[in-house]
Amino acid sequence: MFRVAVLVSGNGTNLQHLIDASGEGRLPIRIEKVIADRPAYALERAQKAGIPAVLVSRSTHRGRLSDAILEELGEDLDLVVLAGFLSILKGRILEVYRNRIINLHPALVPAFCGPGMYGLKVHKAVIDYGVKVSGCTVHIVDEGTDTGPIVLQRVVPVYPDDTPETLQERIHQEEYKALEEAVRLFAEGRIKVEGRKVYLL
Ligand code: GAR
Repeated sequence: MFRVAVLVSGNGTNLQHLIDASGEGRLPIRIEKVIADRPAYALERAQKAGIPAVLVSRSTHRGRLSDAILEELGEDLDLVVLAGFLSILKGRILEVYRNRIINLHPALVPAFCGPGMYGLKVHKAVIDYGVKVSGCTVHIVDEGTDTGPIVLQRVVPVYPDDTPETLQERIHQEEYKALEEAVRLFAEGRIKVEGRKVYLL
């Protein structure tokens, strides 16, 4: 079975979707571990599903969070999924898991992304700018912030009377599909990365 870890910082609805999809046999993966960098409801979701749930606190491990997470993961998982994970991974974990870490971002990268762009802040920036479409991106994690090769994107309309919350909810629905599909492509060995290009085999 394809062995996955999920890193989280918050509510964990995307994690929940992965738990449900694998539990119901729609996704051929086993979630081996869930790691949070701060106290997060997502850890409770993992525990309820019988998945080992670990807090690797960013305040306790200041300056070496990525190494502490790598110790917790080990080096032989098939895929690490950042599902609403708000710390930036650095150093050795990026080498050990090169092309095996994916991140979910709630906008169409390379717009409305980068340092400090997360959660409702992203949707507020999208609405303030007045763009007509937004969406979500699943990308491979590299040394930058939201800069790695793009695996897939899904698009939603932005309406003039949207609030950050209504837009977030519309995008959440697409995120669940995007993340499930991306994880499935990896689990089925259908992803080939060459430079910035991601080929779906
Ligand atoms: C998701 O919308 C995800 O795209 C976003 O956090 C939310 C987590 O929701 N991630 C980022 O903003 C990362 N830059 P969830 O905890 O309910 O899955």
